[in-house]
Amino acid sequence: MRRIGVLTSGGDAPGMNAAIRAVVRKAVYHNTEVVGVLNGYEGLIEGQFLELQSGSVGDIIHRGGTILHSARSEYFRTEEGLALAVANLQQAGIDGLIVIGGDGSLTGAAALSELGIPCIGIPATIDNDIGGTDYCIGFDTALNTIIDAIDKIRDTATSHERTYVVEVMGRDAGDLALWAGLADGAESILIPEHNTNLDRVMARLAKGMARGKKHSIIILAEGAGSAPDVAGKIMEATGLETRVTVLGHIQRGGSPTAHDRVLAGRFGARAVELLLEGETGKMVGIRCNAMMEAPFAEALQKRSTEDAEALYELSKQLSI
Ligand code: F6P
Repeated sequence: MRRIGVLTSGGDAPGMNAAIRAVVRKAVYHNTEVVGVLNGYEGLIEGQFLELQSGSVGDIIHRGGTILHSARSEYFRTEEGLALAVANLQQAGIDGLIVIGGDGSLTGAAALSELGIPCIGIPATIDNDIGGTDYCIGFDTALNTIIDAIDKIRDTATSHERTYVVEVMGRDAGDLALWAGLADGAESILIPEHNTNLDRVMARLAKGMARGKKHSIIILAEGAGSAPDVAGKIMEATGLETRVTVLGHIQRGGSPTAHDRVLAGRFGARAVELLLEGETGKMVGIRCNAMMEAPFAEALQKRSTEDAEALYELSKQLSI
């Protein structure tokens, strides 16, 4: 393999830059050329290529976002878009491609590999919703951003004796809400993996009030409902002064944590090794702190909810 391409696609995630850096430096180490594809699959279809050298990725390990930019491409999902992408890769002499992104991006990589383009995927999404890995790049940073915000919300919740409903991202997954709830000792956590039972939330609030609790934090995953709705229902049923905070896109930005930088380094380097070993159609991941890889079909399967169940149960026991 003489020349490899790398792109970032879908929602950006802190640590993507560290992954790009690892891909470029590892490839250079093995005397392989690297081409960056700008704007994800959109850029692939439009032939937006950029030669990358070791120096091109200097001073980016600590930066959020992605120097290659990102996009969600509907056109790439069409037969025509896919064919254009393949043609552009061949014309640019790119022998293999590394795709950094979430499930939509990795599904695109699977489609390319089925058309004969050697492709390796790197899971990067704050949602942490990729079955074939314990952690995706960006999850840890987003989690710490949420915790920082909730710590601040807790200060004002205490001062004003209020209940807060904090809505966090995650699309259809509850990992961000669950982990943030555990890390922050939230009174209740609402995640899509469980039926949103507001009666139970009210009962917990009432129990807390009965023992003198004056403020509460409820963390809601965006996939489990809308914060204004939940807050309205709580206020109506309990009369508690309730406020809403929707954290939104601040969760996607910021300097990656050490955990995400190291993960990105390990994933990026392994992805290059796999391409050089002649592998294709696989995603790199981490399981029980050991690097692993799995065919896209397996890696993209929905995760079992067993771990979420256990953490959810624990959060209930610890936040009595
Ligand atoms: O997949 C990452 C994510 O941030 C989700 O948590 C969220 O639902 C979605 O992307 C938001 O997408 P956009 O930035 O396109 O609005």
